[in-house]
Amino acid sequence: MAGNWKMYKTPAQTKDFFAAFLPLVAEAKHCEIAICPPFVNIAAAVDAAKGSRVGIGAQNLYWKNEGAFTGEISGPMIKASGAEWVIIGHSERRQFFGETDATVLERTKAALAAGLKPIVCVGEMLAEREANQTDVVLTTQFNGGIASLSTDEFAQIVIAYEPVWAIGTGKVATPDMAADAHRTIRGLVNAKYGADAASKVRILYGGSVKPDNVKGLMAQPEIDGALVGGASLEAGSFASIVSF
Ligand code: PGA
Repeated sequence: MAGNWKMYKTPAQTKDFFAAFLPLVAEAKHCEIAICPPFVNIAAAVDAAKGSRVGIGAQNLYWKNEGAFTGEISGPMIKASGAEWVIIGHSERRQFFGETDATVLERTKAALAAGLKPIVCVGEMLAEREANQTDVVLTTQFNGGIASLSTDEFAQIVIAYEPVWAIGTGKVATPDMAADAHRTIRGLVNAKYGADAASKVRILYGGSVKPDNVKGLMAQPEIDGALVGGASLEAGSFASIVSF
């Protein structure tokens, strides 16, 4: 269960969140928990989460380790700041910041080289779903990106299926719709990396996951967890999602 805070919260607000959140999830041992705050809050989050089961992640990384790349942050820097996870290829990065399947692959390889665990996002836009192109889009994103990882590299990533039309809109995919897309993704993994990899890879659903819809989603065997935006910002709501 991963929280994507996007561009929200200051270090002080991060500290307050963990003070409220950690006691609420102290007994939640059925899943891994991650919070991905903005870069500038990683240190505060790592410090606040110390000794708990909550891992910290970044929301992006650049694929070079260092250099003259003003404004960018590298995998080794994120790792050194105490984070374990990194979200890659979120649809907001694809839509607003020119992320492509090729750069998703570069970032994923760089994250793995730095010892970070990538959460790689895929998902279709509303027009693509309405044109029955969901499977085509997922196939293109998979084959153009993470399908070029080695078998060992692939075994270390988590995939997040995030239909763009469901992100931040309150329009959640039905459990059946999400499970169908997860089956498509798992089929692509099967074709490229084999049945063992397909059964082991964790596929999270993301897009308007809330305390009142998480249970139905998680009842689908295809859905291994959730990537949660808005509802991860408040300790009580993310804790009830974690403890679905
Ligand atoms: P949302 O965001 O839960 O606010 O829809 C999900 C995401 O973008 O990861």
